[in-house]
Amino acid sequence: MSTLTETDSTPDASPAVDLGPATALSCRECGERFPLAPAFACTSCFGPLEAAYDLPTGDPEALRRRIEAGPANIWRYAPLLPVPADVAGKPNLAPGWTQLVAADRLAAELGVTGGLYVKDDSGNPTHSFKDRVVANAVEAARAFGFTTLSCSSTGNLAGAVGAAAARAGLRSCVFIPHDLEQSKILMAAVYGGDVVGIEGTYDDVNRFCSELIGDPAGEGWGFVNVNLRPYYAEGSKTLAFEICEQLGWRLPDQLVIPIASGSQLTKIDKGLKELIATGLVEEKPYKIFGAQAAGCSPVSQAFKAGHDAVRPVRPDTIAKSLAIGNPADGPYVLDIARRTGGAVEDVTDPEIVDAIKLLARTEGIFAETAGGVTLGVARKLFASGALDPSLTTVVLNTGDGLKTLDAVAPTTGPTAIIRPNLDSFREAGLAS
Ligand SMILES: Cc1ncc(COP(=O)(O)O)c(C=O)c1O
Ligand SMILES: [Zn+2]
Repeated sequence: MSTLTETDSTPDASPAVDLGPATALSCRECGERFPLAPAFACTSCFGPLEAAYDLPTGDPEALRRRIEAGPANIWRYAPLLPVPADVAGKPNLAPGWTQLVAADRLAAELGVTGGLYVKDDSGNPTHSFKDRVVANAVEAARAFGFTTLSCSSTGNLAGAVGAAAARAGLRSCVFIPHDLEQSKILMAAVYGGDVVGIEGTYDDVNRFCSELIGDPAGEGWGFVNVNLRPYYAEGSKTLAFEICEQLGWRLPDQLVIPIASGSQLTKIDKGLKELIATGLVEEKPYKIFGAQAAGCSPVSQAFKAGHDAVRPVRPDTIAKSLAIGNPADGPYVLDIARRTGGAVEDVTDPEIVDAIKLLARTEGIFAETAGGVTLGVARKLFASGALDPSLTTVVLNTGDGLKTLDAVAPTTGPTAIIRPNLDSFREAGLAS
């Protein structure tokens, strides 16, 4: 494990790194502060480190106007991210500012009256929300002088790292479970970086990467979700920022968010709190709900059992992007769900496929399996009454259905194959 006092594979750990408003790393458990560095664990208590800020104070109206005048991507929120002020001018994929779709037909089908929205992150450059986190990690990699970008990935992250590294002119070498969807492997490899399939689960891949960081073989490498994790994770706050801005600088009442490691969910909560702290939105209660696949549901199981600890599982689900059996941020997800009055729930593989098709049929959005998990859980929670249909609800679609075609292939296809003549068409029973 890399810590701040050890040599932390830093080629250039200058104390004067410019990461904009981020001034330090702070331990989520004991609050101890450390200088900005490529590190992820507290040397006192081994708790996770996160970026700490001088958040903008003063007139929220002026800050709101500044953001609104910014670029139509995540860099409009640079004053709230660990990135230098001139980030928008650097070569990067400029992700974000994806559609918040008012899902009225879906709402009607689910009996939701208070406003149902889908935050559709399939519209990002590599078609998942991971472009947001990777863009932040790239800035940290540049600041610390890393020239190779790496990660352990369940699929989407590998593609996002490959593409971002290509744009930034960095080398990339990413690690994935060898049996991922073919489309995700190809999407990772096409950008020309190295892709290494590991015979094992994501948790094995992640363990391997932690070993590599402490070894000369991985020296000088920025692992976006390991030694750059405090910076990387901040990218998920932009989902919270965009959702509120797109709602007219208003907090939603309920959010449904998928969980793999749990990082995205915890940082969306952090982002909402920062919007309140800076006065960009008015404070009011909101509830956060987490979504898992039944075949990999350690956090949901702990939530339902009333446990604070998350017992690792061996994943077995079509939602491979969420297949993390030992989620690093699991306990924090439990805290957030309980503190806000939300819940964590799971759905089976057939329910995931049903939800993918429901979203496609009602809103014209083709979600990957992670999106099916999230909508499937939302549907289940509306049915049970845990989600209130009279409140404003946002459901996240974090990835594109083209990445997981196999999930729908067995039950989706042409309505008919006909000969090219009208009689044949009429026989098929499709004429008006
Ligand atoms: C499409 C998609 N959605 C959601 C997640 C969950 O991310 P986290 O690990 O931050 O919980 C992932 C993680 O890989 C993902 O690929
Ligand atoms: Zn600590």
